[in-house]
Amino acid sequence: MEADIERILIPRDVIATRVREMASEIARTYANTLGGIVIVPVLAGSIIFLADLIRWLPFKMRIALMTVSSYRDKTVGQPPRLLQDVSIDLRDRHVLVVDDILDTGNTLRLVMGQLAARQPASLRMAVLLRKTAKAPRDVKADFIGFDIEDVFVVGYGLDFKDLYRNWPDIGVLRPELYS
Ligand code: IMP
Ligand code: MG
Repeated sequence: MEADIERILIPRDVIATRVREMASEIARTYANTLGGIVIVPVLAGSIIFLADLIRWLPFKMRIALMTVSSYRDKTVGQPPRLLQDVSIDLRDRHVLVVDDILDTGNTLRLVMGQLAARQPASLRMAVLLRKTAKAPRDVKADFIGFDIEDVFVVGYGLDFKDLYRNWPDIGVLRPELYS
Protein backbone atom coordinates (compact mmCIF):
# COMPACT_ATOMS: atom_id res chain seq x y z
CA MET A 1 0.00 0.00 0.00
CA GLU A 2 2.75 2.42 0.99
CA ALA A 3 4.39 2.05 -2.44
CA ASP A 4 1.26 3.47 -4.08
CA ILE A 5 1.33 6.73 -2.09
CA GLU A 6 3.36 9.50 -3.70
CA ARG A 7 3.51 11.77 -0.63
CA ILE A 8 1.74 12.39 2.64
CA LEU A 9 -0.45 15.48 2.43
CA ILE A 10 -1.78 15.50 6.01
CA PRO A 11 -0.09 13.30 8.63
CA ARG A 12 -2.12 11.41 11.23
CA ASP A 13 -1.16 13.61 14.19
CA VAL A 14 -2.24 16.76 12.34
CA ILE A 15 -5.53 15.08 11.43
CA ALA A 16 -6.10 14.03 15.04
CA THR A 17 -5.52 17.54 16.38
CA ARG A 18 -7.85 19.12 13.84
CA VAL A 19 -10.59 16.53 14.35
CA ARG A 20 -10.53 17.32 18.05
CA GLU A 21 -10.80 21.05 17.32
CA MET A 22 -13.72 20.40 14.97
CA ALA A 23 -15.44 18.43 17.72
CA SER A 24 -15.08 21.46 20.02
CA GLU A 25 -16.63 23.74 17.39
CA ILE A 26 -19.47 21.27 16.88
CA ALA A 27 -20.00 20.83 20.62
CA ARG A 28 -20.26 24.63 21.06
CA THR A 29 -22.79 24.88 18.24
CA TYR A 30 -25.06 22.23 19.74
CA ALA A 31 -24.45 23.13 23.41
CA ASN A 32 -28.03 24.26 23.99
CA THR A 33 -29.71 21.64 21.84
CA LEU A 34 -32.09 19.50 23.82
CA GLY A 35 -32.94 15.92 22.97
CA GLY A 36 -29.73 15.00 21.22
CA ILE A 37 -28.81 15.25 17.58
CA VAL A 38 -28.83 12.87 14.63
CA ILE A 39 -25.51 12.31 12.89
CA VAL A 40 -25.83 11.25 9.25
CA PRO A 41 -22.53 9.84 7.96
CA VAL A 42 -22.26 9.46 4.21
CA LEU A 43 -20.84 5.98 3.56
CA ALA A 44 -18.25 4.74 3.13
CA GLY A 45 -15.73 7.59 2.96
CA SER A 46 -16.71 9.12 6.30
CA ILE A 47 -16.20 6.06 8.51
CA ILE A 48 -12.79 6.80 10.01
CA PHE A 49 -13.46 10.52 10.42
CA LEU A 50 -16.84 9.70 11.98
CA ALA A 51 -15.37 7.26 14.48
CA ASP A 52 -12.74 9.75 15.63
CA LEU A 53 -15.02 12.80 15.64
CA ILE A 54 -17.97 11.45 17.59
CA ARG A 55 -15.85 10.17 20.45
CA TRP A 56 -15.05 13.80 21.27
CA LEU A 57 -18.70 14.88 21.22
CA PRO A 58 -20.04 14.95 24.78
CA PHE A 59 -23.77 14.69 24.09
CA LYS A 60 -26.37 12.10 23.15
CA MET A 61 -26.67 11.29 19.50
CA ARG A 62 -28.25 8.88 17.11
CA ILE A 63 -26.46 7.70 13.99
CA ALA A 64 -28.43 7.24 10.77
CA LEU A 65 -26.44 5.86 7.86
CA MET A 66 -26.80 7.08 4.31
CA THR A 67 -25.15 5.60 1.23
CA VAL A 68 -24.62 7.44 -2.05
CA SER A 69 -23.17 5.84 -5.18
CA SER A 70 -19.88 7.29 -6.26
CA TYR A 71 -20.28 8.58 -9.81
CA ARG A 72 -16.49 8.40 -10.10
CA ASP A 73 -16.63 4.63 -10.50
CA LYS A 74 -19.18 4.94 -13.29
CA THR A 75 -19.42 6.74 -16.60
CA VAL A 76 -18.17 10.30 -16.41
CA GLY A 77 -21.02 12.74 -16.08
CA GLN A 78 -23.35 10.34 -14.31
CA PRO A 79 -24.89 12.03 -11.26
CA PRO A 80 -24.58 10.46 -7.79
CA ARG A 81 -27.51 8.28 -6.73
CA LEU A 82 -28.97 7.57 -3.32
CA LEU A 83 -28.44 3.85 -2.53
CA GLN A 84 -29.56 3.81 1.10
CA ASP A 85 -31.66 6.50 2.78
CA VAL A 86 -31.80 7.13 6.54
CA SER A 87 -34.32 4.94 8.31
CA ILE A 88 -35.30 7.14 11.28
CA ASP A 89 -37.71 10.08 11.42
CA LEU A 90 -35.81 13.36 11.13
CA ARG A 91 -38.70 15.78 11.56
CA ASP A 92 -37.85 18.44 14.17
CA ARG A 93 -34.48 16.79 14.87
CA HIS A 94 -31.11 18.52 14.69
CA VAL A 95 -29.22 16.80 11.90
CA LEU A 96 -25.48 16.89 11.22
CA VAL A 97 -24.22 15.33 7.99
CA VAL A 98 -20.64 14.01 8.13
CA ASP A 99 -18.64 13.35 4.97
CA ASP A 100 -15.02 12.91 3.96
CA ILE A 101 -14.61 15.47 1.21
CA LEU A 102 -16.41 18.26 -0.60
CA ASP A 103 -15.21 18.50 -4.18
CA THR A 104 -17.74 19.40 -6.90
CA GLY A 105 -20.50 19.28 -4.29
CA ASN A 106 -22.70 16.96 -6.36
CA THR A 107 -22.81 14.31 -3.64
CA LEU A 108 -23.58 16.64 -0.76
CA ARG A 109 -26.11 18.63 -2.82
CA LEU A 110 -28.06 15.40 -3.25
CA VAL A 111 -27.69 14.45 0.43
CA MET A 112 -28.70 17.86 1.79
CA GLY A 113 -31.70 18.10 -0.56
CA GLN A 114 -32.89 14.68 0.50
CA LEU A 115 -32.54 15.47 4.20
CA ALA A 116 -34.03 18.98 4.00
CA ALA A 117 -37.21 17.46 2.56
CA ARG A 118 -37.68 15.57 5.84
CA GLN A 119 -38.10 18.83 7.75
CA PRO A 120 -35.39 18.63 10.40
CA ALA A 121 -35.20 21.38 13.04
CA SER A 122 -31.72 22.21 11.72
CA LEU A 123 -29.42 20.77 9.08
CA ARG A 124 -25.65 21.25 9.09
CA MET A 125 -22.68 19.66 7.38
CA ALA A 126 -19.19 18.70 8.57
CA VAL A 127 -16.52 17.69 6.06
CA LEU A 128 -12.97 16.71 6.80
CA LEU A 129 -11.62 18.06 3.50
CA ARG A 130 -12.65 20.67 0.98
CA LYS A 131 -11.06 21.08 -2.42
CA THR A 132 -11.25 24.80 -2.98
CA ALA A 133 -10.65 24.58 -6.75
CA LYS A 134 -14.20 23.51 -7.60
CA ALA A 135 -15.98 24.56 -4.40
CA PRO A 136 -19.59 25.26 -5.41
CA ARG A 137 -21.39 28.34 -4.13
CA ASP A 138 -24.61 26.55 -3.29
CA VAL A 139 -23.15 23.73 -1.16
CA LYS A 140 -21.58 25.16 1.97
CA ALA A 141 -20.12 23.16 4.82
CA ASP A 142 -20.62 24.46 8.38
CA PHE A 143 -17.51 22.70 9.70
CA ILE A 144 -14.40 22.12 7.57
CA GLY A 145 -11.26 20.28 8.62
CA PHE A 146 -8.80 21.27 5.92
CA ASP A 147 -8.87 23.12 2.63
CA ILE A 148 -6.70 21.22 0.17
CA GLU A 149 -5.35 21.64 -3.34
CA ASP A 150 -6.93 19.82 -6.28
CA VAL A 151 -5.09 16.50 -5.97
CA PHE A 152 -6.53 13.00 -5.59
CA VAL A 153 -6.11 11.88 -2.01
CA VAL A 154 -6.58 8.54 -0.26
CA GLY A 155 -6.41 7.26 3.29
CA TYR A 156 -8.25 8.04 6.54
CA GLY A 157 -11.44 6.70 4.92
CA LEU A 158 -10.90 8.08 1.43
CA ASP A 159 -10.59 5.50 -1.31
CA PHE A 160 -9.54 4.84 -4.85
CA LYS A 161 -11.61 1.95 -6.25
CA ASP A 162 -12.52 1.04 -2.66
CA LEU A 163 -8.89 0.61 -1.61
CA TYR A 164 -6.60 2.60 0.73
CA ARG A 165 -9.34 3.58 3.23
CA ASN A 166 -7.28 2.07 6.05
CA TRP A 167 -4.14 4.10 5.29
CA PRO A 168 -3.74 6.16 8.51
CA ASP A 169 -2.55 9.43 6.91
CA ILE A 170 -4.08 11.41 4.06
CA GLY A 171 -1.81 10.85 1.08
CA VAL A 172 -1.61 11.70 -2.59
CA LEU A 173 -1.97 8.61 -4.79
CA ARG A 174 0.67 8.08 -7.46
CA PRO A 175 -0.90 9.63 -10.60
CA GLU A 176 0.10 6.68 -12.83
CA LEU A 177 -2.30 4.49 -10.82
CA TYR A 178 -5.41 6.36 -11.86
CA SER A 179 -4.53 7.89 -15.21
P1 IMP B 1 -18.20 15.59 -5.08
O1 IMP B 1 -19.55 14.99 -5.31
O2 IMP B 1 -17.47 15.94 -6.37
O3 IMP B 1 -18.19 16.75 -4.10
O4 IMP B 1 -17.27 14.46 -4.48
C1 IMP B 1 -17.61 13.85 -3.31
C2 IMP B 1 -17.20 12.41 -3.29
O5 IMP B 1 -16.23 12.08 -4.29
C3 IMP B 1 -16.56 12.15 -1.96
O6 IMP B 1 -17.52 11.73 -1.01
C4 IMP B 1 -15.55 11.10 -2.29
O7 IMP B 1 -16.16 9.83 -2.18
C5 IMP B 1 -15.17 11.35 -3.72
N1 IMP B 1 -13.93 12.12 -3.84
C6 IMP B 1 -13.75 13.39 -4.27
N2 IMP B 1 -12.46 13.74 -4.27
C7 IMP B 1 -11.78 12.66 -3.82
C8 IMP B 1 -10.37 12.38 -3.58
O8 IMP B 1 -9.47 13.21 -3.77
N3 IMP B 1 -10.10 11.14 -3.11
C9 IMP B 1 -11.04 10.19 -2.85
N4 IMP B 1 -12.35 10.40 -3.07
C10 IMP B 1 -12.71 11.62 -3.55
MG1 MG C 1 -17.64 9.54 -0.37
